[in-house]
Amino acid sequence: TQALRLGIAGLGTVGVGVVKIVRRHADLLQARTGRPVQITAVSARDANKDRGVNLSDYAWETDPVSLAKRDDVDVFVELMGGENGPAKASVEAALASGKDVVTANKALLAIHGQELAEKAEAAGRVIRFEAAVAGGIPVIKSLTEGLAGNEITRVMGVMNGTCNYILTRMQSQELGYNALFEECAQLGYLEADPNLDVGGIDAAHKLALLSSIAFGTKPNFNGIEIEGIQQISLDDIHQAHDMGYRIKLLGVAQRTARGLEQRMQPCLVPSDSPLGQLEGGTNMVVLDGDAVEQIVLRGPGAGEGPTASAVMGDVCDLARGLHIPTFGRPAASLEEAKPAVTGL
Ligand code: NAP
Ligand code: HSE
Repeated sequence: TQALRLGIAGLGTVGVGVVKIVRRHADLLQARTGRPVQITAVSARDANKDRGVNLSDYAWETDPVSLAKRDDVDVFVELMGGENGPAKASVEAALASGKDVVTANKALLAIHGQELAEKAEAAGRVIRFEAAVAGGIPVIKSLTEGLAGNEITRVMGVMNGTCNYILTRMQSQELGYNALFEECAQLGYLEADPNLDVGGIDAAHKLALLSSIAFGTKPNFNGIEIEGIQQISLDDIHQAHDMGYRIKLLGVAQRTARGLEQRMQPCLVPSDSPLGQLEGGTNMVVLDGDAVEQIVLRGPGAGEGPTASAVMGDVCDLARGLHIPTFGRPAASLEEAKPAVTGL
């Protein structure tokens, strides 16, 4: 059987996690997909950095765009990050060269997802991005597959591991803000620009993607009201605690009479509720559908293993020949299909 050949651009927290899984689970991946899953080429900025994994079997490309165009790559795995620059250029190059794309890059897709989905469709390829939302939780698969028979009415949840980690550790008064930030860095939770995390922007990127999938609309990041956690003081946390509440950075996207409403902001939730009990880097996503009523997904929202796990879920789907595009049809037809959703 022909192997599925991966080209991985980005060998940081997530990229190294993916290399480890491909190496550790070669037999398992073959058994589950019916074909070998191999890495043929990799790319990062610094060719000499020790990344704690053996990369000597793989071709090295300094330029991710060259990696994306290689003949011995079937799936381009973009794990560099950034909403423009090499991430966008290399994803476009991969699609134009007839390769499917797997990415964890929510910033890229929340801003350019529609344009890239149209390019993918024109090229007959797909972009898969389970890892971009809620780390190890298969929330996109739940929406597109398990809940496919539902009209989704609301998507809600905690979608940033860094913010949840900082808020819960502030609550237990274990360390100051700077030390907590350092812990998040050690755990591999932080974005390259951590302001995206604490500013609520990273979580809003994720909400834009989820609500686009749930409601069949263009990702509309600019339509989200965003407030981060920078202004939350220890005093706020203690006052909330005294009243029986916890502060969580909560995202909500729902249908209203005025159209699709999307918000990402710190909220008070009862301390003894499942959301109130959410500790550390854990995420929780609550999905409401007309048939299923409500499901709750909970799990690690960031870090090497959980995020690489989600990347590999997409890779395995492609190895099995499941070429279902996550965004579905381009926006025009999506909007025609959902005329009731306005205000986008
Ligand atoms: P990271 O640790 O900072 O790693 C980024 C990697 O990209 C590094 O290996 C870096 O190379 C490489 N890179 C950056 N610019 C490059 C360029 N111009 N050319 C070639 N390589 C380049 O980031 P990460 O945490 O793995 O995150 C990667 C992506 O996954 C981001 O989109 C992030 O939002 C997303 N994500 C991360 C997590 C998480 O928990 N970390 C979870 C979900 C999604 P060097 O190593 O040589 O500097
Ligand atoms: N920086 C992100 C977080 C990584 O803390 O949730 C996972 O997307």
